[in-house]
Amino acid sequence: EMIKVRVPATTANVGPGFDCLGIALNLYNNFYFEEIEEGLKIEGTDREFQNEDNLVFQSMKKTFDKIGYKYKGIKILIEDNIPISRGLGSSAACIVGGVVGANRLAGDVLSKEELLKIATEIEGHPDNVAPALFGGMTAAIYENGKVYFSKINITEGLKFYALVPNFRLSTEKARSVLPQNIPYKDGVYNVGRTALLISSLVNGEFHLLREACKDKLHQNYRGKLIDDYDEIIKICEDIGVVGVFLSGAGPTIMALDKEGVYIKEKFEREFSRLNATWKVYELSIDFY
Ligand code: HSE
Repeated sequence: EMIKVRVPATTANVGPGFDCLGIALNLYNNFYFEEIEEGLKIEGTDREFQNEDNLVFQSMKKTFDKIGYKYKGIKILIEDNIPISRGLGSSAACIVGGVVGANRLAGDVLSKEELLKIATEIEGHPDNVAPALFGGMTAAIYENGKVYFSKINITEGLKFYALVPNFRLSTEKARSVLPQNIPYKDGVYNVGRTALLISSLVNGEFHLLREACKDKLHQNYRGKLIDDYDEIIKICEDIGVVGVFLSGAGPTIMALDKEGVYIKEKFEREFSRLNATWKVYELSIDFY
């Protein structure tokens, strides 16, 4: 019989929380799984992804291996809505879909914590897979093969405007431009803002977000890879959003505003004069 797994998009880093913070959003990929008599059938995705290398299948295989489950054949149907290679956790969604789906087919053997560990091993950092698996906002670190993870109970009332360009940026490329070392004061800059960010989100002190979302570990380096980056940040400031940060490794830029404030059209009006084509997704946190 067919099982369905729904996985949310995620926005990682949230400014200063590099490789640690992430938020699940109400934009989903659906994965359908079925154990079949033999072979591998993948549907709903481009032909180039319909083979053994498929990230969903690879993640299933790793999970089956951990469990020691021998499968006959696998059918996967993918319905994707999360834009690919845009900093919205599309890879994490494939990984989480695969590990959750495999665990279900095998009879729900592993706990969610164990699935988080497998998903993190595959992705290399836990900041997208943790919220993709648990929903809401999470803080997670990966050290010596262990994931330390905590859910952050943030106050409702925030809207997320994902500003998504028509070009891709691979995480690999976006990580390759990061420096080996940073000045001590940049570390201090980010520690303070990460603490302030979490506290202000929990307390609903949204007026602190503009400062709390700033970062010196990755955004300035990555911004140079993104066409229109400085212009978009300027547009966000002019509109007066409550916060703005690079979503994951980019190129999507995430603007935050309070619910009940409508700024989608304002963005769209400004975007007409930019080089690239930018699309606005108006999203909310997926509390799960
Ligand atoms: N924390 C990761 C990064 C998220 O910024 O590279 C993207 O996968």
